[in-house]
Amino acid sequence: MGKPKQRKKPELWKPIEVLHAQTAPVLLAVMALVSSTALAATDFSDIDQILQARCVMCHAGPAAPLGLRLDSHDGLLTGSSRGVIVAAGDPAGSELIKRLKGTSLPRMPMTGPPYLADDEVALFEQWILDGMRSGTVSEPSVSAPSPLAVAGPVRYDQVAPIFATRCVKCHTEKGLMGGPPEGYRLTSYANTISAADRVRVVPFSPEASELLRRIRGQALPKMPFDGPPFLTDDEIALIEQWIADGARDSAGSPAPIPVGSRVRLHGKLVSSNRLDDLTLVITGSTRRDKSPSPGDYIEVRGTLDADGRVVVDRLRLRK
Ligand code: HEC
Ligand code: HEC
Repeated sequence: MGKPKQRKKPELWKPIEVLHAQTAPVLLAVMALVSSTALAATDFSDIDQILQARCVMCHAGPAAPLGLRLDSHDGLLTGSSRGVIVAAGDPAGSELIKRLKGTSLPRMPMTGPPYLADDEVALFEQWILDGMRSGTVSEPSVSAPSPLAVAGPVRYDQVAPIFATRCVKCHTEKGLMGGPPEGYRLTSYANTISAADRVRVVPFSPEASELLRRIRGQALPKMPFDGPPFLTDDEIALIEQWIADGARDSAGSPAPIPVGSRVRLHGKLVSSNRLDDLTLVITGSTRRDKSPSPGDYIEVRGTLDADGRVVVDRLRLRK
């Protein structure tokens, strides 16, 4: 306390400046050696946090893509069904680094952009150079994403793991199918409920939500497109409840009803104004293409009114 802070460095360094030209390199080499052994080499704990935050939502458990589990040091070293993803001492030759940089596609994390920051990628490279040490490993996360037992209204953070593990591999910027199918991204809350072109999630109205129709298989093709396996009944019920509760964000606020937004739904016309369990608002200007009749699989296009009802522009027979 009260001790004046003095910069001692200039004094300490002075002797080096006056050293003889021949001894200086030797001393510097010794110093470099000392400092490199004093500096802890990176180990798994240095990259584990990034893996937990950006990768493990998909790369864990029995459904991990290509069997690649990134929730433990073992998993990372074991690699995928295609082989190892890290080459000792060779970051540039490691599939892991190629995926992080996008020189091998699809780029990881699959939820990107945003991808990892340059200094984060550098940490992975350093870890490979340092010998891919395990170090003090945190507990492998129990990340089977199933908070299926729920108290209170369902929030986005409870359904997001389902989208991340089952949908995002296609419904992202550069996914398995190139661009996002139908321009629909499931990489974030904002994208999932977006009404930019049309809405696929209508807050408080599961039946008017094409997303739910697709995972139930009322609208075809059933999602996920690469199923079976499709979603479990519990997962579908959770997503249905999420929409019924207002498609809330992770903080618990319901989404606003995007009044006037366009919707496009598929399903079975069960009577003149019902699409499965959804009552349609038919008006004098509703068009009927190819005379659909009850029992037919149809496409409905319309807009949302202030109560979240679907005011139909067009009913069209499909198939
Ligand atoms: C939204 C899900 C998702 C997230 C998040 C994700 N991945 Fe992937 N990852 C996949 C899918 C799907 C594949 C398989 C793609 C393919 O066919 O190559 C894959 C493949 C890979 C591969 C290629 C394995 C091989 O042998 O070819 C690597 C490496 C990889 N991911 C690393 C990561 C890392 C590191 C992160 C986090 C920074 C991450 N992934 C985040 C879904 C994801
Ligand atoms: C293997 C790739 C793939 C996966 C995985 C996938 N989808 Fe799709 N998705 C597609 C394709 C392709 C289409 C367009 C199909 C069509 O209508 O011809 C589509 C269409 C959709 C649509 C219709 C969009 C619109 O504008 O009407 C919704 C909603 C949807 N998917 C939701 C999901 C959900 C939710 C999941 C995960 C449970 C999922 N998808 C998983 C490929 C995929």
